[in-house]
Amino acid sequence: MINTIYKPIKVTLASALTFVKVPKDFIDSKLSGLAPWYQMNLGVYKLNLISDPNILNYVLKENEINYTKSKVYWHELKRMVGPSVGSLEGDDWKLLRKLESVHFTPKVAQQLMPNYLKYLDQFLNNWKSNNTSFNLLESFAVLNITFILKTLFNMEEASRGEKIAEYIADGEFIIAHRSKFPWRPYTAWLNGMNLRYKKHVKYFHAYAKESVRLFKESPKTPSLIDSLLKDDQLKFDKIDLLRNEIIVHLGASTETTAVAESWILILLARNPEKLKILKDEIRQIDTELIGVKHIERLKYTTAVVYETLRLFPPSHAIVRDAIKEDTVLGVKVKSGEVMFISSYAMHRNPTYWNNPQDFIPERFIGANINKMDHFVPFGAGKHICIGQHIALPMLTLAISNFINRFEYNIENLDKIHGIALSTLKPNIPVQMKLKTRKL
Ligand code: HEM
Repeated sequence: MINTIYKPIKVTLASALTFVKVPKDFIDSKLSGLAPWYQMNLGVYKLNLISDPNILNYVLKENEINYTKSKVYWHELKRMVGPSVGSLEGDDWKLLRKLESVHFTPKVAQQLMPNYLKYLDQFLNNWKSNNTSFNLLESFAVLNITFILKTLFNMEEASRGEKIAEYIADGEFIIAHRSKFPWRPYTAWLNGMNLRYKKHVKYFHAYAKESVRLFKESPKTPSLIDSLLKDDQLKFDKIDLLRNEIIVHLGASTETTAVAESWILILLARNPEKLKILKDEIRQIDTELIGVKHIERLKYTTAVVYETLRLFPPSHAIVRDAIKEDTVLGVKVKSGEVMFISSYAMHRNPTYWNNPQDFIPERFIGANINKMDHFVPFGAGKHICIGQHIALPMLTLAISNFINRFEYNIENLDKIHGIALSTLKPNIPVQMKLKTRKL
């Protein structure tokens, strides 16, 4: 039973424009007395900034039928990429999500991890010999791309990982840019962004064609590509659909995970006493390659992963548009209004968290995150992240093995803060130097 009476706080147009330009700065400026609901009239549409789990539950679960993926971000993805599990709604989305879900269950995720560990081991070995400063986020993104392409689409990527990572990151940047203001999809012709995006899509089209050819030549273990090609219910062109799925899965999985890995190492570097507890836990395992069977023992490492996803949720907002007029917990919302549910704000809301700005992994030890509806790094409701059961062990294994092998120093630690594009990422490349530990 919800007793709260919601009274949205109206925001001036000037502040609303600041919010659209730099959402995180606006939220940070309000954090000490955060209201659950701010309303902003942007002329072309009204935006509701939400940091309250009751409203989240209503929009994403109880009356989800009235809320569609938003014109902010998602529509641009659909316009630029086309139909995919990330951009569709309605029956086509349902079919596609059902078809894909079998590849993302907790059991399948466990089975995929030995493959992930194989790549992780290879990458860490390469980093080992590299004692010059390297870009952390890019390096993790290439590792994640290599794994996801092999796992979901059966493609071996020794040589093209870096190029693909660059295209995916640029594509995300362009979509986020186009989403901010309604005129940007048109002005993006002038600054060359649209043309660049078209080139990226063309690259992935050729890539999808090649992956189908290779798959038909020698079908391997059942994977997502298998299910997509066999399906006869979805009426989309197979190569187009596969191309879109490759783009969307890489976009949704690799940068989010790489961003989380970067934030974990940044937060640990800023909190050496927590890093020490983590090291002690990891070193007790006393093995060269920490595997799935050890995760159960990595309680503090898991808590560090959750606490990082709380402070810096890579997908920092879940955004929907109202289809029809509605009354949301006593407040009228008109058709077309945007519900910008900020997980970043909710995760730092003092109503739900003690010392919300501090890095305290201990708060997650023994916590049942399925019961915490104010902790939503993977979203909620029917569009909840399909890859969460893959992402969590990836993060735990990446960090524990990294810390097991290296001492690290982030050279530009003091200059790093978060910026919210499509993901909440570090504002500058994280430059790191590594020292290999004797195992
Ligand atoms: C730390 C890593 C990750 C984070 C924080 C994250 C977060 C999210 C969030 C918040 C959503 C919901 C968006 C919404 O409702 O508007 C989402 C959806 C999605 N995620 Fe993830 N994700 C991560 C990793 C992955 C991985 C590893 C994959 C796939 C291998 C993946 C694939 C997807 C897809 C396809 C969707 C769209 C689902 C749909 O609309 O039905 N994500 N993710």
